[in-house]
Amino acid sequence: MSKVKGLKSKDLLGLRDLPVDDLNLILDTASSMKEILSRPVPKVPALLGKSICLLFYENSTRTRTSFEAAAKMLSAGTTNVAVAQSSVAKGETLIDTAKNLEAVGHQAFVIRHNMAGAPHLLARNLKASIINAGDGQDEHPSQGLLDIFTMREKKGSLKGKKVVIVGDIAHSRVARSNIWGLNKLGARVSVVGPATLLPKDIEKMGVKASYDLEEEIEDADFINVLRIQLERQGRGLFPSLEEYHELFGLTAKKLARAKKEIMVMHPGPINRGVEISSEVADGPYNVILDQVQNGVAVRMAILFLLLSGRATDEAN
Ligand code: CP
Repeated sequence: MSKVKGLKSKDLLGLRDLPVDDLNLILDTASSMKEILSRPVPKVPALLGKSICLLFYENSTRTRTSFEAAAKMLSAGTTNVAVAQSSVAKGETLIDTAKNLEAVGHQAFVIRHNMAGAPHLLARNLKASIINAGDGQDEHPSQGLLDIFTMREKKGSLKGKKVVIVGDIAHSRVARSNIWGLNKLGARVSVVGPATLLPKDIEKMGVKASYDLEEEIEDADFINVLRIQLERQGRGLFPSLEEYHELFGLTAKKLARAKKEIMVMHPGPINRGVEISSEVADGPYNVILDQVQNGVAVRMAILFLLLSGRATDEAN
């Protein structure tokens, strides 16, 4: 058995517990991966012979395809498990499903699940590397990393930079991963939203909480706009989508108060006319598709750092 090289852990479960030097290692490795992506043939044999299982219990467009593209660029094989058509529908537990898929020959699992902690459960029970692709309202570390990578790429060191995260903070795993990661790199984070969507103890995470988007925008370097997660909410957390848009939606009028170098970010999927106007989403300050493109490089870095030092039979 060869020793695991790269990250300190065999898994990537979140940014809260990721050592800052591992966080920087992923960002630096992603820069090298981005160079590979710019080549005429963007493919290297780094993970030839490795098999990665994509196990998504929730919908995804960006994260699933991005991990799949990243694996292919590194020459790894991938299996997409169609959860609805799998034996999960016959009552098989998450651990049994994953152990069987590990026995098939996968060295890593990219898992999205509506239950917070599901990836951690697998990490404790499998030898394979577990990568959290979003667990309930807990974390979405690869999204946090690609957001931070995009910020750092555009503006250099994040120390002292102000990041405003606006929207449904209460239900957002993207917000949590961003906050944990940005705090480690010395950024100043403000979270903005209606009182019902800001957890009352959110400031304990080391952020400023505010209900006034226009005020927070004024000296911001970045604004990260989050979707209203209607699928995770009970009813009645704000009066109407129109009123939400009026108060917290990012519009050209509100953005006019920002510094002219402001960067507008959104993890997707976008609900145009709710949390962001089309004029802003498609406007000159947006880096939304840069985020998606950088996501492939960041996920290549994650897979490479977790898997390149492992023998192919190590997890089987
Ligand atoms: N940002 C994000 O997680 O998008 P998907 O839900 O499409 O994966």
